[in-house]
Amino acid sequence: MARILVGVSGSAACFKAAALCSQLSQAGHCVQVILTESAAEMVTPLQFSCLTGNPALVDEFEPADPAGMDHISFAKDADVLVVVPATANTIGNLALGLAPNLLGSLALAYGTKGPRLIVPAMHPGMWGNPAVQRNIATLAADGWIQVGPVVGGTACGEIGEGRMVETDVILAAIEAALTS
Ligand SMILES: Cc1cc2nc3c(=O)[nH]c(=O)nc-3n(C[C@H](O)[C@H](O)[C@H](O)COP(=O)(O)O)c2cc1C
Repeated sequence: MARILVGVSGSAACFKAAALCSQLSQAGHCVQVILTESAAEMVTPLQFSCLTGNPALVDEFEPADPAGMDHISFAKDADVLVVVPATANTIGNLALGLAPNLLGSLALAYGTKGPRLIVPAMHPGMWGNPAVQRNIATLAADGWIQVGPVVGGTACGEIGEGRMVETDVILAAIEAALTS
């Protein structure tokens, strides 16, 4: 059993993160979900709370920890951090070390204490943007494990590189990171 932090950012692929969390919970892992405000527009935190048995969090200033330091306590307890789906915006924030939300603060507090996986999902034009490529290269240089994206159909109806990988691929990458 591992303690898995799942950061969900605002992509059309958010629904797949719900399926992943369900699979992780069923595999016996303790899953704590943090959504960005944009992600909470796409899927409900309640859905993730139900699937994981832990309250999914969005607002840094409405903490679960009575001491008001969720970003510290969750980071301290975790075995692995997975950002899925990772938007272009969140990739940029993480690459620059910015913390505009709970997910950003938590990723900074987590630092390099354990494996960090980033699972991009976006329109092929966004993925091909030099700024996004620069940011994802920065994350790789910082030790993040990149999982996908793949070439395929994206939510906008276009086919190209940017489609998020399927949950079985993410599950395998998490298990590999935990045992390496
Ligand atoms: C319906 C919809 C789908 C979106 N899908 C994506 C996506 O797949 N990838 C992405 O990078 N941005 C996507 N966006 C844009 C992000 O939600 C937007 O950049 C937002 O600021 C990201 O914030 P976050 O990184 O804090 O979640 C989408 C926006 C909308 C309205």
